[in-house]
Amino acid sequence: MLDIEDVSISFGEEQAAVSEVSMHIQEKEKMVIIGETGSGKSVLLLGILKLLPDSADVKGHIRFQGESLLDKKKKEMQKVRGTQISYIPQGSGNGLNPLYPVGKQIIESIRRKDKTIGKQDAKARMLRLLSEFGFNDVRKIAESYPFMLSGGMRQRALIAMGIAADASLVLADEPTKGLDTERIAMVIDAFSKLQDKTLLCVTHDLRFAKAVASRITVMYASEQMESCEKEEFFEHPLHPYSQAMLKALPENGLFANMGFAPPKSGEILRKGCHFKERCPYYREKCSQEKPPFVTMGNRKVRCWKYADEA
Ligand SMILES: Nc1ncnc2c1ncn2[C@@H]1O[C@H](COP(=O)(O)OP(=O)(O)O)[C@@H](O)[C@H]1O
Ligand SMILES: [Mg+2]
Repeated sequence: MLDIEDVSISFGEEQAAVSEVSMHIQEKEKMVIIGETGSGKSVLLLGILKLLPDSADVKGHIRFQGESLLDKKKKEMQKVRGTQISYIPQGSGNGLNPLYPVGKQIIESIRRKDKTIGKQDAKARMLRLLSEFGFNDVRKIAESYPFMLSGGMRQRALIAMGIAADASLVLADEPTKGLDTERIAMVIDAFSKLQDKTLLCVTHDLRFAKAVASRITVMYASEQMESCEKEEFFEHPLHPYSQAMLKALPENGLFANMGFAPPKSGEILRKGCHFKERCPYYREKCSQEKPPFVTMGNRKVRCWKYADEA
């Protein structure tokens, strides 16, 4: 459904924000990209959506249902974004308009994307969406103004709005960022209800990833370090960075402060593996050459340790 092949994104002379990322997302698959702040997650999503500023140089191939997105014109892309791919941007917790009832806003979002839909059909779809997202008294919720809902409810209503277009592919950027535990649980619950959607979601929240993903990709300082099935990742991570990440915080699922913040620029990123400075398996080769993306059965890992074994 979505094929990303050797995608690199850079801004001028600076170190690439995304380096040679590849993934093939099947229909109904839930791909969750895990990475710390600055690893290139948002830039990758915006690159797929063609929402980056002109200063961004995007290389590689991005195909959605067989069509190249990078070759599409701005106007064509706008149509794709509205109807086939929906996008839930970071910090959308504040995205509801306080002056209108929630239901009206969701209907607007539906009608903006599907101009032929009648008022009654749009309303029916809005109510169905709200009930899919775990709201009980959907008519009452629809008539409520945002301030009348709890934060967790608002967040769920927003995600409902984000997918209101009935797009088959949903991209979401850090949907749990900045939320308390209770709200995180609600958002996880909402995403778990998207069974028949294809999902590409980026997060720094391991608990969200564990609950929502079918496949996991790990990014570190612009590099794709590992891609595998969710179970493989949590039970038997291959990349030293993945191993360190899981070991550091097994219980609360967040690794924002685990001390592995990726280096931003400089010598470390110029040559060899981006994780080399912190890697317990460091050897000379890791400083000399970028590790290849090694295929290990159904999974891939960018590490010299496995390149030699394979
Ligand atoms: N418009 C831009 N111009 C230049 N550099 C950018 C721009 N947007 C992002 N970057 C850089 O790209 C890198 C990755 O950023 P980002 O994708 O936002 O990280 P993440 O979402 O993983 O926290 C960062 O080093 C950031 O400074
Ligand atoms: Mg981001």
